[in-house]
Amino acid sequence: MTQCLPTFASLVAAAAILFAACSPASHETPRRTRAPFGTVDGKEVFLYTLRNRSGMEARITNYGGIVVSLLVPDKAGTPGDVVLGYDSLSSYLKATPYFGAIVGRYGNRIGKARFTLDGKEYVLNANDGPNTLHGGARGFDKVVWEADETTPATEPSLSLSYLSRDGEEGYPGALRAAVVYTLTDSNELRIDYAATTDRPTVLNLTHHSYFNLAGAGSGDILSHELMLNADRFTPIDSGLITTGELRSVEGTPMDFRVPTAIGVRIGASDEQLRFGRGYDHNWVLNRTGAGLSLAARVFERTSGRAIEVWTTPGIQFYSGNFLDGTNVGKGGKAYAYRTGLCLETQHFPDSPNKPSFPSTVLRPGEKFASTTVYKFSTR
Ligand code: GLA
Repeated sequence: MTQCLPTFASLVAAAAILFAACSPASHETPRRTRAPFGTVDGKEVFLYTLRNRSGMEARITNYGGIVVSLLVPDKAGTPGDVVLGYDSLSSYLKATPYFGAIVGRYGNRIGKARFTLDGKEYVLNANDGPNTLHGGARGFDKVVWEADETTPATEPSLSLSYLSRDGEEGYPGALRAAVVYTLTDSNELRIDYAATTDRPTVLNLTHHSYFNLAGAGSGDILSHELMLNADRFTPIDSGLITTGELRSVEGTPMDFRVPTAIGVRIGASDEQLRFGRGYDHNWVLNRTGAGLSLAARVFERTSGRAIEVWTTPGIQFYSGNFLDGTNVGKGGKAYAYRTGLCLETQHFPDSPNKPSFPSTVLRPGEKFASTTVYKFSTR
């Protein structure tokens, strides 16, 4: 009889085999899993899923650092996807207005696609008429980032890095950029940016999610109520290039100091709204000191979802004016005019050509660092 009973040693061995078979690969835990998403330039691209303990889930790919989906509970606790995007990598490769991407080296426009630094003029790749937009024809949104899977997946985070070669898209200096996405248990999507360079260069990293708090593909964002913590904004010319002025928002449709539905004044007869085809401007944040300060709040009544944006630099609010229904997104939903809004935390557009704006120059030996937190809640 006794031979039929398993020995202690054989039980331990069996348990070890079972554990090895069931435990995920070392880069995976229930808080961060990985699935193949395709290949670009012969490099493997993955879709990482981060899950927190409060019902949020983010799916992020190392192609362009794109946030592909972001599930956030509504006021009834039902999760919904609040960012525009595609189901497949091939759709991102075909055409995307920067859905969910990391934007670099320089977010927004640099006028006439050139700037002068330390007496030398640099000519950039013009990809927006005569100007350069979001880093050029192949910015950081269109490259494969390296995902660091050696960092323990004990918290739901994803570390990405990209080495941009000297002269890429016309920018000087080999630039190493690092972006860490963290999904905290208090329902924040936190983005930490860092960069170093081997030659003086300019830098303006941002993130380009199009939010729709009622759910991606569920209609326009005009009833979303927005608060922007800014007394001033940077006006633009008809080519969407900042003029260098910092203008008061007082008495204009740019005044979002009191929460206001985006659609209330978007059609007002106003030169800035005409130039931007709606809202497509940078606001000068009212800072309360060094570190993170509150930049924006958005609230959508039917879902009860809200976002707070906390950040270190300025913020571009873009009301999705170039969306026209040609981008057919997740679940076959076409994204029509103004169905997503972007809150791109960044330095002021065209700073390299605007000496009065805060500097965006990065020099060898310096370390660029900035942080943005998108904090979700319901009411
Ligand atoms: C930014 C710009 C807009 C537009 C979008 C992408 O928000 O400010 O003008 O280019 O990106 O379509």
